[in-house]
Amino acid sequence: MEQYVIKGGKPLKGEVIIGGAKNAALGILAAAVMTDGVCDIDNMPNVRDTNVLLQAIEAIGATVTRKSANEVAISGKGIHTNGDMTIDDEYIRKIRASYYLLGALLGKYHKAQVALPGGCDIGSRPIDQHIKGFKALGAEVEISHGMISAKAERLVGAHIYFDVVSVGATINVMMAAALAEGNTVLENAAKEPHIVDVANFLNSMGANIKGAGTDVIRIKGVSELHSTEYSIIPDQIEAGTFMTAAAITKGDILVKNVIPKHLEAISAKLMEIGATIEEYDDAVRVVVNDRLTNTNIKTLPYPGFPTDMQPQMAITLALSTGTSVITESIFENRFKYLDELSRMGAQVKVEGNTAIIEGIEKFTSAVVQAPDLRAGAGLVMAGLSADGFTIVEGIQYIQRGYEDFEGKLRALGGQIEKVSTEKEIQKFKLKVG
Ligand code: UD1
Repeated sequence: MEQYVIKGGKPLKGEVIIGGAKNAALGILAAAVMTDGVCDIDNMPNVRDTNVLLQAIEAIGATVTRKSANEVAISGKGIHTNGDMTIDDEYIRKIRASYYLLGALLGKYHKAQVALPGGCDIGSRPIDQHIKGFKALGAEVEISHGMISAKAERLVGAHIYFDVVSVGATINVMMAAALAEGNTVLENAAKEPHIVDVANFLNSMGANIKGAGTDVIRIKGVSELHSTEYSIIPDQIEAGTFMTAAAITKGDILVKNVIPKHLEAISAKLMEIGATIEEYDDAVRVVVNDRLTNTNIKTLPYPGFPTDMQPQMAITLALSTGTSVITESIFENRFKYLDELSRMGAQVKVEGNTAIIEGIEKFTSAVVQAPDLRAGAGLVMAGLSADGFTIVEGIQYIQRGYEDFEGKLRALGGQIEKVSTEKEIQKFKLKVG
């Protein structure tokens, strides 16, 4: 199994270029099959999750042409409308967002069957709000044998109030409603930047969606969608991760190709604890010289502090002065990585959905296991700040959402290598001394 071997202790310094947003890409790649035309999608992150979704849509007959690592052309024309349109478990178990194909295929073909989603194990992840939305549009939805099926004679616009703010349900129902007859109103919609990006993408295909980015989205159904060319927005979480890399290693990083507005919750917290943040049109620079201070954080839907930045920020606070309290209000099981961090010396206590962190001066190196995507990235950064050699196992999680993570960290001066054998670990140790 691949692992990262890390020699910590050096501040990360320099520039990093952020790729396209994984969570926007997953919605957009699924939505691309909603036309028989060709969608040319650029700035696609070349990560495991997007590649798995591309495989899944190829498996049901769509044509996927890789133009380069980060550009893909997709045509839904060949989809097996009379044959097997089932998105089977092999793909779906690997990524949660395959369920976007439910909304996309239901919208276009009025039928879809997808295996129940997997993804990161960060707590129970129900899909009742997706189902509620599809049913309101007139679909029959059934769950049996681990599959979820939806079909409709006609899809008709409706007024839908989401009981919880859900990124996935908002995108999924928005896609189906784009091709429904008449008007749909989604209330209590999620407002994340990637919701806006998926809506913009659908509009560029001829959909009529207004209000994305607010909590009321209005959709006028259209009869068909057409070809488009689109470039995905920068990844807010990848950017935030590198911002905390500067904080954790007391470095100086210019994070380029970002939309600073999307990073405000993260910038504000970093400034509050003593980091210097400089904002440019499409970049942010984070400079940290001294030990940062404590704060409290509660994860919330956008524009609140993102749950996907919770581990990286907790790791930052584990090295700050004083006591910090983190409340995880989105996913109940998102503190598992703190056991691993404790093995690096962190002083943490978890009570329900709250973590209490006593800051320490330095982590000690250890062999740790990445329990999920974001916590995995956090543990790598913890290793980069620790003295000695850290090994991070389970890096397939990190590869789900970070493109060339180790390469980007190396370019900032991080001593990190992807290895598969003990011999490679020894070689790395000899190289870096
Ligand atoms: C998406 C992101 C994930 C991020 C999360 C929250 C993708 C592919 N993944 O996940 O990285 O951590 O948003 O920002 O974009 N819920 C229900 N019923 C539902 C749907 C959700 O109760 O039908 C609950 C969930 O249990 C959770 C909350 O709503 O407590 C938010 O979940 P949601 O926004 O749907 O997250 P995902 O779309 O799965």
